[in-house]
Amino acid sequence: MGPGAVLPRLGPACCLLLLLLGGCGGLGEEAPRFKARYEAVKEQLGAVAALSKRYWRQLACGVWQEGCEAEEEGKTGSKPGWSLPVVGQDYLEILSAWYCSFGKCCETGDCRIINNVTGLELDLHRQLHGQHLAKETIIRALRGFLRSPQPQKALVLSFHGWSGTGKNFVARMVAAHLYRDGLKSECVQLEKQISETVQLCRQSLFIFDEAEKLHVGLLDAVKPFVARSDRGQRGNRRSIFLFLSNIGGNAINEVALDFWRAGRAREEIPMELLEQQLRLEMLQLAENGYARSHLLEEDLVDFFVPFLPLEYHHVKLCVRDAFLARGLPYTEATHEEVARMMVFVPKEEKLFSAQGCKSVSQRINYFLP
Ligand SMILES: *[C@@H]1O[C@H](CO)[C@@H](O)[C@H](O)[C@H]1NC(C)=O
Repeated sequence: MGPGAVLPRLGPACCLLLLLLGGCGGLGEEAPRFKARYEAVKEQLGAVAALSKRYWRQLACGVWQEGCEAEEEGKTGSKPGWSLPVVGQDYLEILSAWYCSFGKCCETGDCRIINNVTGLELDLHRQLHGQHLAKETIIRALRGFLRSPQPQKALVLSFHGWSGTGKNFVARMVAAHLYRDGLKSECVQLEKQISETVQLCRQSLFIFDEAEKLHVGLLDAVKPFVARSDRGQRGNRRSIFLFLSNIGGNAINEVALDFWRAGRAREEIPMELLEQQLRLEMLQLAENGYARSHLLEEDLVDFFVPFLPLEYHHVKLCVRDAFLARGLPYTEATHEEVARMMVFVPKEEKLFSAQGCKSVSQRINYFLP
């Protein structure tokens, strides 16, 4: 690793943000004060369909793997239902009053920006298997963006691929390498809305998992924070948006399969080919909120990042990592046995793991002494 690559910046306003509606522990006595307003907003919003509580729960458990217990507690408590629909910036602003105060997290200094891109690169090389395109694109995009003194717009990356190919894994890793305490940072627990965060944080990171399920209203509310501005992002603030979806997963897999059938290495798959396929697939999704949002129609996504389907030997590497991470003894035989428990498709070739590396770490439980 190159020396001097890591420059801890101790700016006062910096934060890693989890956009999460539901189960905020810091509401306390504030809640009744906002109750009336909440009711008013709720009424106005009426039956407009929007974010489901389920989505946010999945985000917390799926991306962060840490909000799951909080959610359980929330169910037994007598808190008001937080599954309120959210449409448009105004409502986001009103609702923000409830969420844990931002100041708290920065007073404790837990939100320090480290922007350890070299470390991220190293860890991606070590732990993200079979994704040469994603690796390269993400590092190049982040490095360029973080070096630019005054970016013209927020950085928007759209991750595509089957489940288990590493989209969430990479999102977590990005968070962990941009902020000192990564996911353990108090700020990860924070529930905030975008405009306040962008104002308060010198650098904010927003992760939208399962973007294909997001309501178009929410996505359009995000647009002003993503759009280009002649004056650059306000002050020298930066925001990074990651949208994770399985849109285009099949198209990516077909390209990978064609290359394999033609006897060519997956490393030869050119980015341009996949990007073109992803754009085409997006255009065909007439009904999908993400595909139809202004983000895509106005070309606000900077990079489409394809995640390739994983082959047997990639899964074996994930198994090895899972054993190592838990300090467990392992043998070549157990490796193969775990990897063989996964389902491989298509039927004839049995080439790609249908669930990627998902649940590998649970599967090794069967092999414990
Ligand atoms: C940067 O990341 C690398 C790889 O994860 C790690 O070894 C190193 O300690 C990190 N540096 C800081 C300052 O967090």
